[in-house]
Amino acid sequence: MLKNTTLTAVEEYFRLLSLEASENLDEFWDHIIGRHEQKAYEFEELLSSASKENQRKVYPIKNQDLAFSLDVAKMVADFYLAYCKWVSDAPFQPKRILDVGCDNGILTCFYAFLYPEAQVVGIDRTKEGIRCARELAKTLGLTNISFRQLDYREVDQYFNSHSFDMITSVRVFHEILSTNPAPIYWSVEDFLNTAPLSSDYKYLEVIRQLLTEDGVYLSTERLETSAALGQWANMLEATNLFVTWDRSSFIEFHETGATKKSPIVVATKSPTAISTIEGLKMLYLRNVDFEQFGSYSSGVAEILFHQLAPKRLVKGTLIVFEDHWYQVRYEIWTTDTFILVYGCGNMGYRKLEILPLLEMEQAYSTLAELANEYAEEGILTHYTTNSEREASLQAT
Ligand SMILES: C[S@@+](CC[C@H](N)C(=O)[O-])C[C@H]1O[C@@H](n2cnc3c(N)ncnc32)[C@H](O)[C@@H]1O
Repeated sequence: MLKNTTLTAVEEYFRLLSLEASENLDEFWDHIIGRHEQKAYEFEELLSSASKENQRKVYPIKNQDLAFSLDVAKMVADFYLAYCKWVSDAPFQPKRILDVGCDNGILTCFYAFLYPEAQVVGIDRTKEGIRCARELAKTLGLTNISFRQLDYREVDQYFNSHSFDMITSVRVFHEILSTNPAPIYWSVEDFLNTAPLSSDYKYLEVIRQLLTEDGVYLSTERLETSAALGQWANMLEATNLFVTWDRSSFIEFHETGATKKSPIVVATKSPTAISTIEGLKMLYLRNVDFEQFGSYSSGVAEILFHQLAPKRLVKGTLIVFEDHWYQVRYEIWTTDTFILVYGCGNMGYRKLEILPLLEMEQAYSTLAELANEYAEEGILTHYTTNSEREASLQAT
């Protein structure tokens, strides 16, 4: 492996892998069809299938050989880049790393490359993934890494307790646990107080068992809403792993052009006095200026909306979509200093516009615009008082 000293470790690693993100889906498919024709068509067919069985076949198909596997990774290469930059900027100095669900080893090999003093182990249940991972490590000349084909649920039979001072999982546990990745909720606080944890969260106990006392668990799971992230933190806490909210963060990236955000959750065995809801507030509102007019979305919008108080309802519209459980409401509220136009869906959609008090006209037209967008698809109920608002929700 020839080191280029003018590049950062991350840049050098991505250069060695020729891993560049596809800018959009057309570019992605043109590229892989051009290079791998038949395999690419096979892969495309599986991806477009909704069946669970076919979804499971995706990994063996995409990992038929390393060249194809690395080309498929261009779909998520910007995510990998943002993640690797975050890891390389963080002050970790691990000596033994376990990567759960390592797949073709792109991230596992990155850890071995970034931390040459550490010993790295990757496990995955598919043999094709492990074969690609071994080949990648060999191509990169990495000698501080090994891979095992293993189901995570059996991992404690193969490693002693306290074997690792860093355990990582990236987009894996949605395939292991039965937790609903898209919970239905109007308020993250109510959801966290009432939603039961999925019964199999106990699988996370193995992470705690394998981790040294001062070890760190770095999870970057598919947690797309504040409720899903809060529930993940609660599941960790139930197994005595505690999120260190000030070290956790969000990374931003694009996937074939679509802008996305993902939390990186840092957890350790050290108990924290910070509740999950307080931790979420810290995380989502980090770097957000409360006194700013502007537009906010997802968890930031929800937490900011609840934070801005006291507030009075001016007007709202509830939309109940026909033949679906999806519901959304759009509302205008005022505080002493702002107008808030808040859109909130029961599946995690959140949007907040903060306007100056003088712009009520603008607020009304934004509300009408948002409600009109869906007027054809659902039943609309309008309200102007808190009691009418409560009644509209109870009626559904
Ligand atoms: C979405 S991929 C993510 C791979 C890798 N962490 C990355 O980000 O590049 C999920 C991986 O988890 C693996 N996986 C799912 N369930 C598993 C289990 N029970 N034990 C081990 N690996 C599992 C799959 O085989 C797949 O390779």
